[in-house]
Amino acid sequence: MTRAAITGLGTAAGHNVVTNHDLAKTLDTSDEWIVERTGIHERRIGGSCLELGAQAARTALKEAEIDATDLDLIICSTCTPDQVFPAVSNRIQNELGATCGAFDLNAACSGFTYGVSLAQSQITAGMKRVLVVGVDTLSRFTDWDDRTTAILFGDGAGAVVMEPASSEDRGVLSTYMGSEGRFADLLTCDFSDLFIRMDGKEVFRQAVRVMVAASQRVLADAGLKAAEVDAVVPHQANFRIIESAMKRLGIPLEKAATVLDTTGNTSSASIPLAMDSAVSKGSIRDGDLVLLVGFGAGMSVAAALLRWGK
Ligand code: UT7
Repeated sequence: MTRAAITGLGTAAGHNVVTNHDLAKTLDTSDEWIVERTGIHERRIGGSCLELGAQAARTALKEAEIDATDLDLIICSTCTPDQVFPAVSNRIQNELGATCGAFDLNAACSGFTYGVSLAQSQITAGMKRVLVVGVDTLSRFTDWDDRTTAILFGDGAGAVVMEPASSEDRGVLSTYMGSEGRFADLLTCDFSDLFIRMDGKEVFRQAVRVMVAASQRVLADAGLKAAEVDAVVPHQANFRIIESAMKRLGIPLEKAATVLDTTGNTSSASIPLAMDSAVSKGSIRDGDLVLLVGFGAGMSVAAALLRWGK
């Protein structure tokens, strides 16, 4: 099987910084409560999916040293598209000057990892260069009067170029895409008001369970053990969710990449944003075994295990 490797990575953050102190001016909340219960200090807000997604994609293409015209496919994961249609990916394709096919997928916060899994299968099927973009602008669907959700979300984008790994021991080793539709009502954004509504406590409980199960599954599929994982890049929803999942997986918390303190929950963008930060800090290096694991509305869940490097 041809393995897909990440050869380029780029990110973009929402334009404006909104701190917990800013939110406490209009909501019955405090910096202390938000930091203690979520780990979030501030978030970035502003920008369209097209603008943020294209910015992240340009950086990823540059790092991969390829032109947009070399791409075989663009997959854009978003649950907050700029329009009902056309897809954000079509507009990103045009903005980049690419000529390949393009489509959006909506698997909420698991979407980027779903995209990595799909890119892997397309590369196995013969494609050479697939761009996966994760972008969300949740601030547009946030009820800024609801303290139980307004403190959590931010806007951002991340993108990766995936190509056949040049060495047999690099690239995606195993992937998992899951869905537990019986929990669909726990986290919704309905056409009736277009606001995010959530049973936070229950999402928390189920999130830890599905993250652990999906992680164990990709490890088992690759014949590897949790102890062999060098870095975990989890969905950035709540620091306490990450802490609980790492504990149950038996992986030291220091191995988890986190950026949510400054980004908040950026849905599809959260995993590539955390990945980019970990690579920049040197906590993900060539040859490392890296576990991506996301969960979100649906309830969707996805994991991917990869050996870092081209
Ligand atoms: O991408 C996936 C998206 N979502 C998630 O992953 C969210 C998962 N859930 C969570 O992160 C947490 O459940 C929250 C951060 C949303 C809430 O934290 P919690 O520890 O589960 O708090 P809680 O809902 O049990 O609320 C505890 C108390 C309540 O007051 P009472 O009933 O004890 O008097 C809430 O009304 O905290 C109150 N509360 C707040 N207080 C100050 C809720 N939100 C706030 C707030 N500031 N922002």
